[in-house]
Amino acid sequence: MKYVVGVDLGTSAVKVLLMDQRGEVFREASKSYPSIHEKSGYSEQDPEEWVEKTVLTIKETVAGLDPGCVEGISFSGQMHGLVLLDEDHQVLRNAILWNDTRTTQQCLDIYELVGEKRLLNIAKNPALEGFTLPKLLWVKEHEPETYEKAAVFLLPKDYLRFRLAGEIHTEFSDAAGTLMLNISEKEWSREICEAVGVNLSLCPPLIESSGFAGYLMPEIAQETGLSEQVKVFAGGADNACGAIGSGILEEGKTLCSIGTSGVVLTYEESNEGDFGGRVHYFNHGKENAYYTMGVTLAAGHSLSWFKNVFAEDEHFDDLVKGLADVPIGAYGLLFTPYISGERTPHADAVVRGSFIGMDTSHKRIDFVRAVIEGITFSLNESVEIFRESGKKIDSIISIGGGAKNEEWLQIQADIFNAKIVRLTSEQGPGVGAAMLAAYGCGWYSSLNECSEDFTQVEKTYEPIIENVEKYKELYSLYKSIYQQTKELNQRLNGFRP
Ligand code: XUL
Repeated sequence: MKYVVGVDLGTSAVKVLLMDQRGEVFREASKSYPSIHEKSGYSEQDPEEWVEKTVLTIKETVAGLDPGCVEGISFSGQMHGLVLLDEDHQVLRNAILWNDTRTTQQCLDIYELVGEKRLLNIAKNPALEGFTLPKLLWVKEHEPETYEKAAVFLLPKDYLRFRLAGEIHTEFSDAAGTLMLNISEKEWSREICEAVGVNLSLCPPLIESSGFAGYLMPEIAQETGLSEQVKVFAGGADNACGAIGSGILEEGKTLCSIGTSGVVLTYEESNEGDFGGRVHYFNHGKENAYYTMGVTLAAGHSLSWFKNVFAEDEHFDDLVKGLADVPIGAYGLLFTPYISGERTPHADAVVRGSFIGMDTSHKRIDFVRAVIEGITFSLNESVEIFRESGKKIDSIISIGGGAKNEEWLQIQADIFNAKIVRLTSEQGPGVGAAMLAAYGCGWYSSLNECSEDFTQVEKTYEPIIENVEKYKELYSLYKSIYQQTKELNQRLNGFRP
């Protein structure tokens, strides 16, 4: 049997999947690493941790296999993160991550220098704190000595791949999240770079997601137990790979992915759709295709934050035990998941989360239900934008941590008022990365063909009309919280660390 490896470099952990030629997950393993939050709104990681943990996880996953039977490897990665390298390709500082929101001023500067409309024309997206260009400008302004030394920037999974295969590349799906790519022309935008004063030479060479990016370096082959003949393929942004791994490869397909962040994503045949920047518009990992998506910054992260603060030593399964026994609306308790600020539909780095309606009778599990419902309401705001734009969304594939829990899957069906589809593996980005390797190795003639083997439905969840009605009422209350807490949060901002 032949195998491919899909590596998903997430925000909380790296997950490695070993998939066989029938499209089945043969083995999987994962290792976590910390984030560094020096100040409110700051979020960084040490890129060395990614490399160390990935090598160990691959080693664990392929242990005991004949090295010759693994043919290819590819990568999915957390988007937007800035890794700066000097001319010897040494890392200059910690990576600044997608959920770091220190760059509001740089976003305003980008609008001023490029023009809001022109930016939207070229990059198809507004300037958001999480994207790479504002981070680059922040370093230029606040750490000029570091910026001066920078020879190239990479996205997280591109840095990881560089350390494993020794070549510097990025690919279109991750480049799209930098705000420096001309999305339609598929080339770095000289106009944007010149307007903001960034040297084009900092941008890495571009290839396709399924593009060949070299072979594993001998020392990495030895450390992981893989062969030096393993072919390395570029890979994609985690959301692009999540879409590939879930079969979002043609018009009319929608995905809900709940990891650290949460996204609702739909396939776009062309670059011609116009959402006025309300949702992100990026190049897909499938050649010459696109996708649009709305992002909840702290989706799974809201639940893991709650667990870390209120149930640190307990197992996650114990935290959610009894979830189904709590009625819809958690006895009048609402939660907004803005604990790291928000992106869609409120691009607001300053807003913070709320529990509204706390009562002396509330128990911890009621809070858990409120957190899960709040995350799902937030994602429903993205579903709503797509529906308002004319898209028909009556079926949604659900992946990530949110697809592991039966009750949460039913909550998604009831809040989204759509059939929810659960796949045999909820690890969409890792599956997508493995598919890019399988396609790159020539096992299939297209990603769509590959998807027929690699994407299998396990179970579906239909919306329950009575629940849908109850949630509609709660959702309108949920939506009003943003406007009612916005100013309060601006005034509280001065009290944050
Ligand atoms: C997407 C985004 C997040 C990260 C999470 O724009 O910022 O979904 O990709 O890994």
